[in-house]
Amino acid sequence: MLNWDDPIAAAREPRLDPLQSGSEAIREKQAPPTQPAAEPTSAFEPMKPVNPDDKRVINGLTDINQLAPFKYPWAWEYFLNANKNHWTPLDINMAQDVQDYQHKLTLEERHVYENVLAYLTTSDVLAMRNIGLAVMEKMSAPELQIYQARQVYEEALHTWTYQHCIETLGLDQGEIYNRYRVVPEINGKIQVANRRLESVLRADIDLTDRDELENFLMAYTFFAGIFEGCWFYNGFSPIFALQRRGLMKGTAEQLQYIMRDEVLHASFGIRVVKQILLEEEVTLDPAKLREMWDEAHACEEAYAGYILRDPILGYSKEDHMEQFRFVANRRARQLGVEEPFPGAQCALPWLDEQANLRKEKNFFETRVTEYQTGGALSWD
Ligand SMILES: [Fe+2]
Ligand SMILES: [Fe+2]
Repeated sequence: MLNWDDPIAAAREPRLDPLQSGSEAIREKQAPPTQPAAEPTSAFEPMKPVNPDDKRVINGLTDINQLAPFKYPWAWEYFLNANKNHWTPLDINMAQDVQDYQHKLTLEERHVYENVLAYLTTSDVLAMRNIGLAVMEKMSAPELQIYQARQVYEEALHTWTYQHCIETLGLDQGEIYNRYRVVPEINGKIQVANRRLESVLRADIDLTDRDELENFLMAYTFFAGIFEGCWFYNGFSPIFALQRRGLMKGTAEQLQYIMRDEVLHASFGIRVVKQILLEEEVTLDPAKLREMWDEAHACEEAYAGYILRDPILGYSKEDHMEQFRFVANRRARQLGVEEPFPGAQCALPWLDEQANLRKEKNFFETRVTEYQTGGALSWD
């Protein structure tokens, strides 16, 4: 039976002393006597109702504990939509992946697969810390925090997913998890993200200060538009390329679920940034944006050169980079800023379709049929 004081107690040895009577043992387990209730410090004064029009994304002064009426109903919609994508990594059958990894993947394909996982493991921890520790506390409307709380959970779930893949395939955890520390081409991306995160990871940041505000906005734009919007989005595609050839289909299905979350994260973050720009009457500095895109491009190019130093069937570093530029333009349009890479073409026309979950195809292959109960996602 579930013990409400210690929910995982059933998994351990019984802790009651068999020589004591039941009631004695229970008395010993009881908490120390409670303190007398403190006297109320002041008389209760009714307060004025919260006016939703007074809410602001940041720098707001309304009561953060009152969810509705909403000022940002779209944020609540994101939360509801996020809850349609339920799964755990244990739901997906990985048996064939073990066979594929051991007997079918070429050395080059293994190199791609392992390094994609190595990058993603570290990235999702960073994504979780960014939204949970740096961003969420700066929001002053609860409907935004509610979605971000869900996002924090999802990033943890993604980390579990990679760990599940690594464990299932029997990869060396000490080696895989340390790869970002020893491979400069992976480390480059992690460092850039870490630098942005560190710069906003302080509770005392005064967002009424224009310089601090600009730095926070650039960091959030980077995480939503590039880290989640391009690097994650594009990061899964080498595995989807294997999936198209019938390889590593369990891992790919896991990543399909993750990608659904990430599309929402990127889109939500961009929406929040735009709302802040509007409310605080600021704009993103085009020179700083240019710097951000160029730095992200350089990091991605080094990364692609490393993971795809030898192309694999149906996927090359040129494809990867052209798709990065194509997706970056899409994020810029969502942000309402100039496209950073005009003329970039969709190099992987199969990607959006491949990344979408297809119930019919998956039905007999895995335990999961389809958890997404809403309509199909728009990948824009
Ligand atoms: Fe994630
Ligand atoms: Fe995310």
